[in-house]
Amino acid sequence: MSPKILVTGGTGFTGGQLCKKLAQDGYAVRALVRAGSRSSELEKLGIELVTGDLRDKQSLAKATEGIDTVYHIAALFRPENVTRQDMWDINVEGTRNILDASIEAGVKRFVHCSTIGVHGDIKHPPATEDTPYGPGDYYQESKTEGEMVALQYMRENRLPIVVFRPGGIYGPGDVRFLKLFKSIKNKKFVMFGSGQVLYQLVHIHDLVEGIILCGTKDEAVGNIYILTGEEPITLNHLVSEIANVVNVAPPKLRLPVAPLYYAGFACEILCKPLGINPPLYRRRVDFFKKDRAFSIKKAMSELGFQPKVDLETGLKNTANWYAQQGLL
Ligand SMILES: NC(=O)c1ccc[n+]([C@@H]2O[C@H](COP(=O)([O-])OP(=O)(O)OC[C@H]3O[C@@H](n4cnc5c(N)ncnc54)[C@H](OP(=O)(O)O)[C@@H]3O)[C@@H](O)[C@H]2O)c1
Repeated sequence: MSPKILVTGGTGFTGGQLCKKLAQDGYAVRALVRAGSRSSELEKLGIELVTGDLRDKQSLAKATEGIDTVYHIAALFRPENVTRQDMWDINVEGTRNILDASIEAGVKRFVHCSTIGVHGDIKHPPATEDTPYGPGDYYQESKTEGEMVALQYMRENRLPIVVFRPGGIYGPGDVRFLKLFKSIKNKKFVMFGSGQVLYQLVHIHDLVEGIILCGTKDEAVGNIYILTGEEPITLNHLVSEIANVVNVAPPKLRLPVAPLYYAGFACEILCKPLGINPPLYRRRVDFFKKDRAFSIKKAMSELGFQPKVDLETGLKNTANWYAQQGLL
């Protein structure tokens, strides 16, 4: 009998695509969904829904009942409209709550979604799973702490746990890269800095394959895996590839990055007492500043992880999806 699966974050980009693939592969899938979240896509896939929240332990007991494998994908990720406390409550304490509920329910494998952001700025690329932590903002700090909770449970043998750290995720269903696509297409994109910083994306279809390997391969238990595309690219390369798929000339305007960084910092300080979202913040500026390059050798050799979607194809199917949704 195939294992019964619980996915958290199924109404989001990654969790939604994971639910879809698992359902297509014939698994019995349950999703934890927050009251009021859009879950019609999951319902169409025949996925069982349990209403709950990572902060509500009772709902997690219900969600994990009878479950063999948990894919814990949910997190507070978008910085808009959230406080540091919210991030902590969901990304750290919420992870602890779902781990405890999983132990109580006798779950046989727990797959925890972390992020390559736990490494922060990579001083000596490429980073591996052993590169020290260096979170650079509230979100990354909360994800690091959430991962550390999962690793503590792993060390104490409380549950068979696998941790994976995805790179920047793109593909159909994502809206995080929409701004970048739009600004390039509308010829409003400005490159801050040299554009030589390294970036390592992972296409959602490749990532979902990798996540499922984390949930099914015996060798995975007790390990951490970085899951990204195979090669880093420079931001200049990424921008010119996007320009290519949206049929415009590569943007030429360049400005220094330092003033933008200070402006982001000033926005954060000014907006905080007013309780409004800063239009610009340092994490957004980091996009132009920080190197993100990783080795996926461990996932390739131990799990058989092999990214298949090349950048051009991935960017094309992302742009097509934006167009189909009327977003681009
Ligand atoms: N996207 C990236 O580039 C990237 C890169 C590295 C790592 N990651 C990690 O990958 C995971 C998925 O990212 P994503 O981009 O797919 O995120 P997303 O689209 O923002 O989805 C987040 C999901 O988490 C759920 N959620 C948030 N708070 C919750 C709570 N209190 N209780 C239960 N569910 C809650 C959301 O539910 P609602 O629909 O109700 O809001 C949503 O389903 C996250 O763990 C993130 O840290 C993402």
